[in-house]
Amino acid sequence: MAFKPLLLLLLLLPASLALPYNITLTARAAASTSTAKLHTLATAAGKKYFGTAVDGPDLNDAAYLKILNDKGMFGQVTAANAMKWARASPHPDATEPSAQGQFTFTAADKIATAAKKNGQVLRGHNCVWHNQLPSWVSNGGFSAAQLSSILTTHCSTLVSRYKGQVYSWDVVNEPFNEDGSQRSFVFTNTLGTSYISTVLKAARAADPTAKLYINDFNIEFSGAKSTAMLNLVKSLQSQNVPIDGIGLQSHFQVGKVPASLKSVMQQFTALGVEVAITELDIAMALPATQAQLAQQKKDYQSVIQTCMEVSGCVGVTLWDFTDKYSWIPGTEAGKGAACPWDENFAQKQAFDGIAAGFQS
Ligand code: XIL
Repeated sequence: MAFKPLLLLLLLLPASLALPYNITLTARAAASTSTAKLHTLATAAGKKYFGTAVDGPDLNDAAYLKILNDKGMFGQVTAANAMKWARASPHPDATEPSAQGQFTFTAADKIATAAKKNGQVLRGHNCVWHNQLPSWVSNGGFSAAQLSSILTTHCSTLVSRYKGQVYSWDVVNEPFNEDGSQRSFVFTNTLGTSYISTVLKAARAADPTAKLYINDFNIEFSGAKSTAMLNLVKSLQSQNVPIDGIGLQSHFQVGKVPASLKSVMQQFTALGVEVAITELDIAMALPATQAQLAQQKKDYQSVIQTCMEVSGCVGVTLWDFTDKYSWIPGTEAGKGAACPWDENFAQKQAFDGIAAGFQS
């Protein structure tokens, strides 16, 4: 048959020559060879955890669970959506989505129960965010006093439910615009920035042992936004508002890991708070090429190495470990392949980069 000589030729060709014609073959040729367990490596290197985001629907996938449930691989789990205030259909699996005081914890409990069974700690995510906020909150026409009480009740209910299981809470998520100003949404519009101290105090009262974080993206670059974060934390500290950590989301692009990551982390930890890489993924233009995958390995390695070089960097969380459930393709058109496991759960070179980073 006509295709046979072609197939034979492809098999005999060195992978690099076959690259333009068969990306899968080439990618496989340079696949992960590491047998490391990443949480085990992280803790051996002095970090508290290596973890991953998990979304409700992922928990029905046996191949996914086999990797997730391995505590040597992941010692920490973050609910990608289930602990948020609301989530749009078709996954209405959030905590107070439709009316004041009507809490639903089905999806969040499922993740928390599985984590407990596996011996994995949680990062709570999150008490307040401008996104995935239900319209009953945003458009309810509440007074400042009512909104303050709604926020306090929401965060206290959430945080106390998982008390004792949570290493750290992203109490405030994404408070800043790119220019360092506070985002405009119902809480800033009605309460000003005092919503931040209100919610941090509520979280502390609900679980005094959880570390309280403010989490944001693009603060990995030095500039107006990271300066705003520094100033916010200083100001909270000067008012004796509880604040323990700053989360650097770290949603990066291949070849563009910020050179400032280490210096920014050091500026933050110099304030006496800890830092964590909370939502790491490193996206590329699709289809993935061998060159991009090789660069992605270097990028993952450099992020982990940076956390290793900053003693106050306590751990790293992937924003899901497999391309199968990554949020990137659904959010950034034409981008993806951002995770260390591919969509068939094979480890990519990026996995080896992470392992090498922890061993550096
Ligand atoms: C993302 C989830 O992964 C998606 O499933 C959801 O549709 C949108 O939110 N910053 C955050 C996370 O703090 O909560 C976001 O998670 C990704 C960006």
